[in-house]
Amino acid sequence: MVARVIPVDPFDLVVFGATGDLARRKILPALCRRFAEGQMPPEARIIGAARSEMSRDEFLQMTSDAFDEFLGASAPDATTRAAFFERVDYVAVDALGEDGWKELAGTLRDGVVRAFYFSVGPALFGPLAEHLSRFGMVTPETRIVVEKPFGTDLATARALNQTLAAHFNETQIYRIDHYLGKETVQNLMAVRFANIFFEPLWNARFVDHVQITVAETVGVGGRGPYYDKSGAMRDMVQNHLMQLLCLMAMEPPHKFDPDAVRDEKLKVIHALDPVEPKDVVRGQYLGNAQNPSYKTEVENAESTTESYIALKVGISNWRWKGTPFYLRTGKRLRSRVSEIAVAFRDPPHSIFGEDAPWKANTLVIRLQPDEGMTLKVMIKEPGPGGMRLKDVALDMSFAEALGDDVHIPDAYERLIMDVIRGNQTLFMRGDEVEAAWAWTDPIIAGWKASGDRPKEYDPGSSGPEEALKLIHLDGRSWREIR
Ligand code: BG6
Repeated sequence: MVARVIPVDPFDLVVFGATGDLARRKILPALCRRFAEGQMPPEARIIGAARSEMSRDEFLQMTSDAFDEFLGASAPDATTRAAFFERVDYVAVDALGEDGWKELAGTLRDGVVRAFYFSVGPALFGPLAEHLSRFGMVTPETRIVVEKPFGTDLATARALNQTLAAHFNETQIYRIDHYLGKETVQNLMAVRFANIFFEPLWNARFVDHVQITVAETVGVGGRGPYYDKSGAMRDMVQNHLMQLLCLMAMEPPHKFDPDAVRDEKLKVIHALDPVEPKDVVRGQYLGNAQNPSYKTEVENAESTTESYIALKVGISNWRWKGTPFYLRTGKRLRSRVSEIAVAFRDPPHSIFGEDAPWKANTLVIRLQPDEGMTLKVMIKEPGPGGMRLKDVALDMSFAEALGDDVHIPDAYERLIMDVIRGNQTLFMRGDEVEAAWAWTDPIIAGWKASGDRPKEYDPGSSGPEEALKLIHLDGRSWREIR
């Protein structure tokens, strides 16, 4: 099955921070991939912008090296690169000064979509917005794309929203959470709202609990200075896990349209209960022969920042009251797995007797890797000797179901094309980000006030022991991270 490609309108896309890690690792490869798939019209142009003085040729060489480094076997061939590079330019711009701005303005065309991607640290978001407006580059067809972290708490997020609002309408601001661009995350909406049989069961009456897991094997690597100030709560829960929770828990929007979807997500965030300290476990990884400890990696022997967090979250609304959502995410864990597991309640009465080996029906949506879905159902074990029950998995891998030639696009491919198309459905609205911080801030303040220290865990494990207790106390257990 070959994916359908609908070309977008002509555009000028300026990538600020074009020599940085995210641009080289994700944004430029995503653009080349969309080009190779035939989604970019011949008039599309990409302008790299960064502080470094370099020629266009040097920038193209850097981009080409990035393809080799980050795309490996799927890197574009020489012909595709050459054709893609015809659309690419470079301008040196000083985000905090005056250099380069007139030249940048001179490269832009009238009458086409203009997108400015802020792939820079948050301290530069305001100065970039101000320069774009002062140098007359903001047209009605202009959009800005703002990377995370969108603030570090409610106050900073609010200030950032106000700064951006001084120069752009909300409909021009695209706050990226790349989890929303993942195919399987979008698929969560398809599963819920394009099928009749899940939605009637999707509530506290039939769902015992939900587990959302985003486990990583990587450590913090070279991002220590950022991460040690942030930790898993700010880096992952406030945004990525929060988005998964919202899509999982929200009411059906009346249509798949930006504000209809975002209104429903916002209602979920408003309905989240405050989290008590006993319902949070923070962890920090130790080192072993192969890998340095967290403290060594961030070069802070006193660090109390969490590289792992598990929380129990309640939602106070009619649909979910009484069904806990257990969230966990961490680095240097046993394996890389992101999934949402919906554990259903037991049937009200067993006709097979009280001691039939009962296993709850569970729907697991695997976000990555091996994207797919598994539904655990009870069946009769074949053979004579009475009614013996057994749980089996109805297992579906998207790669198998859709055919091997289906390329599951990287989240950035989808999201950047949505910016050009002017579709904000998969981007966070300003009030949504603020509400997420308003819920997060007291949790962080709680452990700061109590002097909570993260529990240690071994690299390659599934997190600290205390996280097991968090869920065991409720008579439940985490799904294994394998
Ligand atoms: C980023 C976080 O937003 O998401 C990283 O800052 C994390 O710490 C990454 O590793 C995970 O993304 P993915 O797509 O690899 O699951």
